[in-house]
Amino acid sequence: MRQIKLMNIVGARPQIIKASAISRAVRLHFSDRITEIIVHTGQHYDRELSDVFFDELEIHKPHHNLGVGSSRHGRQTSMMITGIEEVLMSEKPDIVLLYGDTNSTLAGALAASKLHFPVVHIEAGLRSFNKMMPEEINRIMSDHSSTLLFAPTNAAFKNLIREGFRPENSPPYTIDNPKIYLTGDIMYDNTLFFAELAERKKAGFLDQLSLRRDDFVLATIHREANTDDISRLDAILRTLNILTREYSATLVMPLHPRTTNSLKTKLEPLYRELLDNPLIKIVPPVSFLEMTLLEKTCRMILTDSGGVQKESHFFRKPCLVLRKETEWIELVKNGTAVLVDADPVKIRKEFERFYNDGDGLGYPGFYGDGRAAEFILNEILELFAESRE
Ligand code: UD1
Ligand code: UDP
Repeated sequence: MRQIKLMNIVGARPQIIKASAISRAVRLHFSDRITEIIVHTGQHYDRELSDVFFDELEIHKPHHNLGVGSSRHGRQTSMMITGIEEVLMSEKPDIVLLYGDTNSTLAGALAASKLHFPVVHIEAGLRSFNKMMPEEINRIMSDHSSTLLFAPTNAAFKNLIREGFRPENSPPYTIDNPKIYLTGDIMYDNTLFFAELAERKKAGFLDQLSLRRDDFVLATIHREANTDDISRLDAILRTLNILTREYSATLVMPLHPRTTNSLKTKLEPLYRELLDNPLIKIVPPVSFLEMTLLEKTCRMILTDSGGVQKESHFFRKPCLVLRKETEWIELVKNGTAVLVDADPVKIRKEFERFYNDGDGLGYPGFYGDGRAAEFILNEILELFAESRE
């Protein structure tokens, strides 16, 4: 049987982590039928946003690194398109896999679809209904350039139908006759796989940060709307600075370099105040196993990250979402995640509620059975079985 050549396009931290679920499933179940190639756009390049995940999650080092780096949206995306187009023409993959909603996803979608390579979009159908977010544009464009679309949640699946995708389409599937699936979330696959491993491999990590189990709050902030709008960043961090002191609550914040840059250059006095607060630990981005351990052992989470919102649910932790809206609406409907925006009053109210009484909440299984990656790969193979008939 001919091997299918599958090209993964990654660029940002969460995509490397997501690709590890597919790589693991290829290695364990499909190595006789699928050959993987990894193209890294170079959108993230710092060791702690990129290489650390290749090492820790045992993914093959990128076969191609386009070294695009940071830039304005248009410039960054156009350099990625140029680089991906070159690689596509030389590698001639059977299929291209895209993850999530970053500029790397969009560049992959445009380059591949225009050269008529079939595109698979993993994490399809998510919508914030806020087109001011660069990610919303990236998602919509990527979904509408795809042949196979894998929606992680019911809400995402319904969004696709609302945009005209037809669940009843039958093979052969093409960009004009795409197939949509409800699959569950490959990040749930990852959490099931790595949660125990994190405990074993990172046994001393909590001690290193002087953290006690169930006795600290975890926060991440990196979203453009929060880092580039200084009034929002100021409101969030000023509120957290006060709350940690009022509640004697330890707060650990692995900060994305984008956030650290904004703090250093535009909010320097506040940054110093945070560093002087003994209850706040600002640390560089941590590895996925370290993050998994922090999520598993914290008391609650505050975040504007998409991935971390879901992981709060996997680990049954209440979550304050530092945004006006979310794509993961089932979490908010469930009441275990609350949209607090950058509003000091809302942050305070929900922090108080969950910090004192975060137990006894329900965390239903919204995200599949932990085998989404296998399902996706099986469907990709089906596509080629059908096209041979
Ligand atoms: C990107 C994605 C976002 C995703 C996030 C995951 C887009 C539009 N945004 O946001 O959806 O949630 O990745 O983390 O694709 N920087 C470094 N080192 C790096 C990379 C970036 O210092 O290795 C700094 C640079 O100052 C850069 C800034 O971070 O300008 C933003 O990087 P960029 O890749 O444009 O977007 P992210 O905020 O990381
Ligand atoms: N993450 C990590 N180290 C960190 C912060 C986040 O490993 O210091 C992981 C996190 O567990 C999740 C993913 O990165 O799996 C989320 O990425 P991010 O918040 O950068 O982007 P988003 O999900 O919002 O696109």
